[in-house]
Amino acid sequence: MIAPAPRPETPPRHLLGIAGLSPVEIGEFLDLAEAEVAVSRQTEKKKSVLKGRTQINLFFEASTRTQASFELAGKRLGADVMNMSVASSSVKKGETLIDTAMTLNAMQPDLLVVRHHSAGAVALLAQKVACSVVNAGDGAHEHPTQALLDALTIRRRKGRIARLVVAICGDVLHSRVARSNILLLNALGAEVRVVAPSTLLPSGIDKMGVTVFRRMEDGLKGADVVMMLRLQRERMEGAFVPSVREYFRYFGLDAQKLAHARPDALVMHPGPMNRGVEIASEIADGPASVIEEQVEMGVAVRMAVLEKLIGASGDPA
Ligand code: NCD
Repeated sequence: MIAPAPRPETPPRHLLGIAGLSPVEIGEFLDLAEAEVAVSRQTEKKKSVLKGRTQINLFFEASTRTQASFELAGKRLGADVMNMSVASSSVKKGETLIDTAMTLNAMQPDLLVVRHHSAGAVALLAQKVACSVVNAGDGAHEHPTQALLDALTIRRRKGRIARLVVAICGDVLHSRVARSNILLLNALGAEVRVVAPSTLLPSGIDKMGVTVFRRMEDGLKGADVVMMLRLQRERMEGAFVPSVREYFRYFGLDAQKLAHARPDALVMHPGPMNRGVEIASEIADGPASVIEEQVEMGVAVRMAVLEKLIGASGDPA
């Protein structure tokens, strides 16, 4: 019998989505992340605000960059970080999500970073455990730290988010990145467009405060930021696009289509990229691309989130 963990005096703080965050709270994450960028650029990259804290990265879905980014973020703040790989976990033996969470909870972690293939799974888990929970992507629902790192990248380059024209292009239907970005960019006053074939748009998208375009040439006209999404073939049952070649021809970002955006437009992609499917290599590696910068900002944003949620200097809830 495992004795139940004692109840914490203050309820743990979570980051489950951009939905529910105020513009002020978003700004606080971004401001702290600015300081963390400087930490990561130093030779000595270690802070001690999470000294003695335990962070568990619980990934039910394959991930390279997001998991590595959360791991580095925790380590740079001094936390003990453990990665739970789903391939070696009891989930494969039939244990449920909640059983896994309760078992880890009994080990007294301070933070669980969770990625799961079902929308809502991370919020459900957060109700069952005594520690803080960060959503690292739940199905096609939300991926809040991705939206925060995208906002940080844009803000550093353009000096603001308000009134910028941001075109989010491609597989919006399966994208938690698109959803979180639409919420965040709208909250900060950007003009958000989505550009996709009808088969890759979720129903009700027009109620999310975006303008819908079905041609890249129209959607990119005058855009300050062009955010490309990965064609998520692993989430598709049946054919959503006629062929990859045809998709690239109409929706892949190449020099011709990018020419419709502003001359100083930024090109973004959350990764992993399908070169030659949603983006041409020459654009991904070209002067407008800030894709590598997004990766760097990812570590900084995750440091800021961890520090705010469980750091010694974090404001009380
Ligand atoms: C994104 C994700 O997992 O939602 N990638 C990421 O976090 N690095 C986008 C994607 O998988 O296309």
